[in-house]
Amino acid sequence: MSFRPNPRHPYAHAARLPEGDGPVSLDEVIPGAGPFELEIGPGRGGFMFERCAAAPDARLLGLEIRLKWAHTVDERLAKAGLRGRARVLGEDAKRALPRLTPDASLRAVFLHFPDPWWKKRHEKRLVMGDVLLDQIARLLAPEAALYIQTDVEERAEQYEAQVATHSGFVPAGDAPGSPRMAENPFGARSPHEHRAIADGLPVHRLLYRRAPRGDSV
Ligand SMILES: C[S@@+](CC[C@H](N)C(=O)[O-])C[C@H]1O[C@@H](n2cnc3c(N)ncnc32)[C@H](O)[C@@H]1O
Repeated sequence: MSFRPNPRHPYAHAARLPEGDGPVSLDEVIPGAGPFELEIGPGRGGFMFERCAAAPDARLLGLEIRLKWAHTVDERLAKAGLRGRARVLGEDAKRALPRLTPDASLRAVFLHFPDPWWKKRHEKRLVMGDVLLDQIARLLAPEAALYIQTDVEERAEQYEAQVATHSGFVPAGDAPGSPRMAENPFGARSPHEHRAIADGLPVHRLLYRRAPRGDSV
């Protein structure tokens, strides 16, 4: 069942995918031309704006579970004249991704500083997991990028171990066989990345490419 906000939620009017659980074409969400890129959990949205400037050909979709931020960033994008090529919808990425079509249509998927929770009881909230990876693998175009960054080394190790067990991705970092990157190659930073850099915190960056499609994935 698709997640519906309480109608009394102050941001219940945030833009969403069409009602129901059916498939939704990315072209329906952002009509026009240009390759699609997806940010999961854009938060305050800075990456969406910086990426629009760095990749003027791209159509950018953000899926943000917090309706307040989804609505606020979506409106700011509209005010900046970017509505035609960038939207943030108030959605749980784990529920929204299985609805998106067509397969092999995304040029990049970005996860910047996901999963800040530490406690065992918060594990069900984690956005990164096998279901999400299966959907990302389904949606990425051949050779397209999956880029993940975090300021928590244990989280980076956890993501690295999770992605390594998935046949849909090949590591594409600085050294052959490793996903680790010293720098962000996308010309755009998220608010959390800017903050981590300003605070002198290390940023752990992982880059993968979509593996050639075989029989299984
Ligand atoms: C730590 S914040 C990082 C925000 C932003 N990516 C950045 O780097 O500045 C994690 C973001 O992911 C969002 N988020 C968490 N779980 C999500 C889910 N299942 N679907 C969509 N967004 C999610 C949170 O609401 C929050 O905005």
